[in-house]
Amino acid sequence: MNRLIAVAMAAVCAFGAAAADNVLTVRADRPGAQIRPTMYGLFFEDINFAADGGLYAEMIKNRSFEFPQSLMGWRSFGNVEVRDQGGPFPRNPHYVRLSPASHAHKHTGLDNEGFFGVILQKDSTYRFSVYARAVEGSPVLRVELIDPSASGRHTQVLAHCDIAVASADWHKYEAVLTPDASVAKGRLRIFLEGNGAADVEHVSLFPADTWQGRPGGLRRDLAQKLADMHPGLLRFPGGCIVEGTDLATRYQWKNTVGPVENRPLNENRWHYTFTNRFFPDYYQTGCLGFFEYFQLAEDIGAEPLPVLNVGLSCQYQNSDESAHVPVDSLQPYIDDVLDLIEFANADTTTVWGALRARMGHPAPFNLKYVAIGNEQWGEPYTRRLAPFVKAVRKAHPEIKIVGSSGPSPDGEEFDYLWPEMKKAGADLVDEHFYRNEEFFLRNATRYDGYDRKGPAVFAGEYACHGADGRGYNHFNAALMEAAFMTGLERNADIVHMATYAPLFAHVEGWQWRPDMIWFDNTRSVATSSYYVQQLFATFRGDRVLPLTDASGRPCTGQDGIFATAATDGEGGYIVKVVNTADEPRSLDLRFDGLRKRRQLGSVTCISLHADDPLRENTLDEPFAVSPVRSAHDAPAAPHEVKMTIPAKTFAVYLIK
Ligand code: AHR
Repeated sequence: MNRLIAVAMAAVCAFGAAAADNVLTVRADRPGAQIRPTMYGLFFEDINFAADGGLYAEMIKNRSFEFPQSLMGWRSFGNVEVRDQGGPFPRNPHYVRLSPASHAHKHTGLDNEGFFGVILQKDSTYRFSVYARAVEGSPVLRVELIDPSASGRHTQVLAHCDIAVASADWHKYEAVLTPDASVAKGRLRIFLEGNGAADVEHVSLFPADTWQGRPGGLRRDLAQKLADMHPGLLRFPGGCIVEGTDLATRYQWKNTVGPVENRPLNENRWHYTFTNRFFPDYYQTGCLGFFEYFQLAEDIGAEPLPVLNVGLSCQYQNSDESAHVPVDSLQPYIDDVLDLIEFANADTTTVWGALRARMGHPAPFNLKYVAIGNEQWGEPYTRRLAPFVKAVRKAHPEIKIVGSSGPSPDGEEFDYLWPEMKKAGADLVDEHFYRNEEFFLRNATRYDGYDRKGPAVFAGEYACHGADGRGYNHFNAALMEAAFMTGLERNADIVHMATYAPLFAHVEGWQWRPDMIWFDNTRSVATSSYYVQQLFATFRGDRVLPLTDASGRPCTGQDGIFATAATDGEGGYIVKVVNTADEPRSLDLRFDGLRKRRQLGSVTCISLHADDPLRENTLDEPFAVSPVRSAHDAPAAPHEVKMTIPAKTFAVYLIK
């Protein structure tokens, strides 16, 4: 299919000399604003099982027995007792005691269902680990990877090992297991064997093959997709989870650093926010924590942008002022911000810099931005934000502060907050919009009239949610996003960052859609929205060039065409064109202001198109809609490129 599209598109791109009825002019001699490296980024939130059960490659659910129902995710059999005194990890006090069953032929143990199953692949290796101590006698833990359905086999067991628990003190025991068959919905099972009883805590299973090969690391395919987008920014950890349904369940970064075994569990509001998509076993272990986020940002070449709580719990869920931190009691929250800057940037003689070094990263992470608050609004926000800004400015004038414009891209709260953000001295203002097709087309001109004196804009959460019940991923939504994004790029002097949202969704565990990347336990698929983001980010360009139609106006939808032009930083040009019309459009692209002897060179076209606008990639058909690269006709004249862009197509032209 992909090949077919490639052939079709190559034919279309080569049809360059057809009658050109839209004359567009690029002023090559008038380079404008820099398109910042941070312009196109990623926003990660633990929603839709994006972290535990997703990017964080742990395969065991409730590995520390800390869920409120201590054995959620586990089945126990025989003589199993949950205890909370005397465990090895004070912030995760629960563990289980396995004692002999009542008869020599009976068994004690437990098995874990994983996240939507423990997926096991033949001949792949998995790292098992457990903390255990002998309570009496010489217990042995028999660890098995099993296929509970095992229809064609004599045994359920795909791999096993025996661990002799030799000491009465807590120790970590490790083993590598290699299943001899594959199963999608496997389980991990532990039997108590030998003589005596054992205590067991922090039962873990990871694929050996993780991103960057890090033990206890990230799922390789998912992290690779992030890297492949070439993002310039990584915003984390949310989203609404920053706020918490109440202050007790807000995201606290200090609980997400240090040894993973001792990071306390937190609730995840996406477990219950939508009862029509209810996931009672959705919690946050915090083991994809702030260290890991900074490390990921560094790995994929993105600037980290942490979002911190401003002393407000979710304002949607708490209208009463008493649910929030009183303005005169914000110091611990302000300290969280200052300490985070120390954790990320300070030298290793400081308390938090030393922790970063102990975690394996003595060099600073070079944090440059912090966002204070997520979707906050009204005076409750502005009164709280002020002391944060004052404290950060005083201690770290080099750090840029991102403020909020509320949950909507217009309306009373939005209109109140923008002037307030100016007054507060925010460097950037975060805008969120989950809107329909019409909004995205209309808002391609959104930033043309913004005050150039700042603050700058961060389009921190956006996605086209189709009208008429089309609240799912499809190519047409991605096309609308592309049209809108030409407006971001044209206004790069004032728009410095943009991130689509949400990023990830497990096909069996999502609460919100559309999303950028879908996955199951082994496979992942990039949506057409991903490819739009990827094309913008990969071919970001260096400086914006004026691009106008025959009447001298920017291309913001006339005749269905949205377009931008930029220098590529290497003497060439990048032109992005979105044809939202139902027919092809012929364009005559003229470069004004080039030196006479300058000849435009080769032209490459990369295009994204689907014949059916409601088409989307799936796990089974991951490349139904994907970018196709083809050589374009040579320039029609030294300073002129002609092209015909098919109906409903986003195309990037690289002109040497
Ligand atoms: O992206 C999903 C949610 O949308 C985010 O958590 C929140 O900031 C917004 O309301």
